[in-house]
Amino acid sequence: MRNQQSTQESDHAKKMEVRSIKNGIIFCTIVALLLTLYCGLQNRVKSSYFSYSRGSGNVTILIWYWPFGDMLTLKGNVCWDRYKIPNCLLVDQRSFFPSADVVLFHNRELIQGSQQLPTELPRPQGQRWAWMSLESPAHNGNLKKFANIFNMTISYRRDADVTIPYGELKPLETESNLVEDSHINKTSLVCWVVSNYMDHHRRTQVYKELSATVPVKVYGRWNKLPLSSEDLLPTISRCYFYLAFENSLAKDYVTEKLWQNAYRAGAVPVVLGPPISDYKAVAPEHSFIHVDEFSSVQELGKYLQRLAEDRKKYEEYFNWKKHWKVKVHGDWIEMLCKICLQYSSLPLHKVYSDLEAWDKEGYRP
Ligand SMILES: *[C@@H]1O[C@H](CO)[C@@H](O)[C@H](O)[C@H]1NC(C)=O
Ligand SMILES: *[C@@H]1O[C@H](CO)[C@@H](O)[C@H](O)[C@H]1NC(C)=O
Ligand SMILES: *[C@@H]1O[C@H](CO)[C@@H](O)[C@H](O)[C@H]1NC(C)=O
Repeated sequence: MRNQQSTQESDHAKKMEVRSIKNGIIFCTIVALLLTLYCGLQNRVKSSYFSYSRGSGNVTILIWYWPFGDMLTLKGNVCWDRYKIPNCLLVDQRSFFPSADVVLFHNRELIQGSQQLPTELPRPQGQRWAWMSLESPAHNGNLKKFANIFNMTISYRRDADVTIPYGELKPLETESNLVEDSHINKTSLVCWVVSNYMDHHRRTQVYKELSATVPVKVYGRWNKLPLSSEDLLPTISRCYFYLAFENSLAKDYVTEKLWQNAYRAGAVPVVLGPPISDYKAVAPEHSFIHVDEFSSVQELGKYLQRLAEDRKKYEEYFNWKKHWKVKVHGDWIEMLCKICLQYSSLPLHKVYSDLEAWDKEGYRP
């Protein structure tokens, strides 16, 4: 009996043990299931995050602060709605930092100290920090402190990771034979519009020598003949030649002086800026006259005079308009959406170890 009882007791104990093992297994299974579910979810988040970099899904571009403080609205899917650029999410709320593929920092505010880099935040793997400036190296300040921080550059330069030119050519869908009579309404030979007149600028020297050879009509604050923005293009359109002289001589630094002021107004640009090859890379063939093409400024002056008197030769400088139109760059949103178009061809890993050297390359102060 006793034995039986003890057997029963031990049976009971065994049953209890089995039950508790069973309970344990069930508990463990539930925990395991929950864990699997949780990890699965995590993985899904992760894999979709990584797939962004492979070009499927959205590319998220976080504007850490607006350039020059000009806030623009990002309501809706702006890149798609306005520019038909797909899978491109432009955001300006900093809470997007953990999932942003690109975080944008406009140089001006960084060098002025009104904005800081969030260096204390851990950077998600694969996230790129972009340094952005459309100004010439003369106005970018000293960038030595930004060594080993940025992964990409956004600038007008052709060798930047994302190039945002001041203007560009677009082919016309159908050849235009509507080349207007370029001689109409021309009253001045050479015009220059200048506000920031500095003796040490090379353009000032060229202007002085040129005006000693041919008449140069000067507008702008310096000459106390300021032009309103409405008057600018109509005024330039009355000149055979417009001096599209950049205020800094730097690699690829070709501004709206060429794209807007000269081409839009219909005056032939006489350019001074980066080397001829930089212009040739972006501007229409036989559409501009580079100061460096001449052995002296006097030679340039004589050439302009002869050209204005030769209707046929002068008009050849407008032949490009049969095939091309000029697009002057739009607002920040349009420019930033274009990052998405180049995103998939960015190198997987890149660090600007010496941004200052990169910025000042090809710059002649
Ligand atoms: C991309 O962003 C748009 C706009 O916010 C959204 O509607 C869409 O679902 C997103 N696509 C993916 C794959 O996350
Ligand atoms: C020429 O000037 C007249 C009068 O200012 C103007 O109406 C006309 O549009 C101009 N033509 C061109 C081609 O600029
Ligand atoms: C971006 O730069 C940081 C800082 O140098 C670096 O640690 C990171 O690996 C770079 N990321 C990419 C995607 O190149």
